[in-house]
Amino acid sequence: MCGIVGIVGSQPVSERLVDALKRLEYRGYDSAGVATIDGGRLKRRRAEGKLINLETRLKEEPLAGSIGIAHTRWATHGAPTERNAHPHFTDGVAVVHNGIIENFAELKDELTASGAEFRTDTDTEVVAHLLAKYHRDGMGRREAMHAMLKRVTGAYALAVLFEDDPSTIMAARNGPPLAIGHGDGEMFLGSDAIALAPFTNEITYLIDGDWAVIGKAGAHIFDIDGNVVTRPRQISMVAAYMVDKGNHRHFMEKEIYEQPEVISHALGHYINFIENRVTAVSDAIDFAKVPSLALSACGTAYLAGLIGKYWFERYARLPVEIDVASEFRYREIPLSPQSAALFISQSGETADTLASLRYCKEHGLKIGAVVNTRESTIARESDAVFPILAGPEIGVASTKAFTCQLAVLAALAVGAGRARGTVSEQEEQALVRSLAEMPRIMGQVLNSVQPKIELLSRELSKCRDVLYLGRGTSFPLAMEGALKLKEISYIHAEGYAAGELKHGPIALIDENMPVIVIAPHDRFFDKTVSNMQEVAARGGRIILITDETGAAASKLDTMHTIVLPNVDEIIAPMIFALPIQLLAYHTAVFMGTDVDQPRNLAKSVTVE
Ligand code: F6R
Repeated sequence: MCGIVGIVGSQPVSERLVDALKRLEYRGYDSAGVATIDGGRLKRRRAEGKLINLETRLKEEPLAGSIGIAHTRWATHGAPTERNAHPHFTDGVAVVHNGIIENFAELKDELTASGAEFRTDTDTEVVAHLLAKYHRDGMGRREAMHAMLKRVTGAYALAVLFEDDPSTIMAARNGPPLAIGHGDGEMFLGSDAIALAPFTNEITYLIDGDWAVIGKAGAHIFDIDGNVVTRPRQISMVAAYMVDKGNHRHFMEKEIYEQPEVISHALGHYINFIENRVTAVSDAIDFAKVPSLALSACGTAYLAGLIGKYWFERYARLPVEIDVASEFRYREIPLSPQSAALFISQSGETADTLASLRYCKEHGLKIGAVVNTRESTIARESDAVFPILAGPEIGVASTKAFTCQLAVLAALAVGAGRARGTVSEQEEQALVRSLAEMPRIMGQVLNSVQPKIELLSRELSKCRDVLYLGRGTSFPLAMEGALKLKEISYIHAEGYAAGELKHGPIALIDENMPVIVIAPHDRFFDKTVSNMQEVAARGGRIILITDETGAAASKLDTMHTIVLPNVDEIIAPMIFALPIQLLAYHTAVFMGTDVDQPRNLAKSVTVE
């Protein structure tokens, strides 16, 4: 997380650096800062909190200079204060950093012993001190950069200015992404191509271990051994425009309401609606032949993967190994090189997901990426890319990316079933017809449930804890409901498999505990109703989200029942995701939290 940018040119840079930071605010918004070299001196402005505070600071105290670096922070080491905000300055060196320097404590001790004075609580400051020391001790700037990179371990995207060289930015990548942008007499650096889109679409991505010396006429790239290397220049397709909220109060609301449209784009990529079949979208993974599938992701994307597991196992009879990426990579799972692995990520940059991908690659598996950002590192390192086509998702809480991930996984599972002979042609046609119905039904649900959800949200906003329950694919959906609620309203929530309730969580039930039960009238419905009886018997307040048949069949006294249309089982998770998202959204709105940028979070998580 954290976003970094740099510009070296002939025109003033500070305004453009802030403009680029605006496109990177999804990577963190704890503090922001800009440094330039003006009149041979390093200067900086920094501000705690959102970027708007830095903009205000720059209006009061503008910053001149035609070379500069800038940063938007997601705090890892040190509180999100101005003192800890990047750029960090030491003795003629300025540094911005995305990632974690893992051996910072040892380096800090060593530097302190040789007289360095640390002014922040960050890990990054050791980079500035090391560079300053090496340079002071007589190394040239490039030599100092190379020597520093050999000392630091961990993950980093770095941009560095030396006060005594007002024409060069140095950069390095090991882990978090870093892109060099080629302009006309100007060069750019950014955490992604989106940040640089207003300036250039000609991009060179650094790969891990690369470092670069960037002047206004071009860049020299080196590997970790100091050898000159060439990396391809490519034309980026990302859009330069800033997406706006339209008539919505928040991006999250807009993105919830966009779902019928984006799902229909996503499905269009994977489905032939004339013949009612799934189209083959990549030759790189032969689902007919793979003995098993590994799935991994983080957060909401992981929960989409968990629902995908049910589908791949049910429709394609394909055994699925799934875990959150931060565990997957360390579990030493025995993996067969004949298998395939799918990694699900909206951003395509999540550090743990990327590390799991590399682990599977090392073990010879074919890699597929289910991603929203096609130019991301995860996409670039995969054999097959399955785009989810959700469009830019700005709200930190994932909504439309989740349902698009589900739509793509559903299509892939049906396609895999067909390829493996476990789904007949007639079954495929029926499943595809159900998927094709989804955008229309989503529209219908979004138009009808709002008043009831608002009423219910007002009550939820007064609660301290909430439980979500479900069975089958509604179990991961229960966890997604809880995740959505807690991340944007800060109400404590947990999602459980309904059958697991009596093994512990039932002790939490009393008259103050709302229990949201996700129960379409599927093959598990009667069992879920029994679990609801257990909750009701203990005074729990049940909020039932079901369909028309379920509402008629359940004779329970619920606090609220949200009734959705009857839908086929394969599309139920996407349809039932809508009231769950709206419930979290409206509860957060009632509570007055920062819905689009909830505290402590960032949209792209590039640290482990
Ligand atoms: C929750 C949310 C996160 C992300 C997770 C993975 O609403 O958005 O849990 O799903 O950080 O991010 P990506 O999908 O970018 O890998």
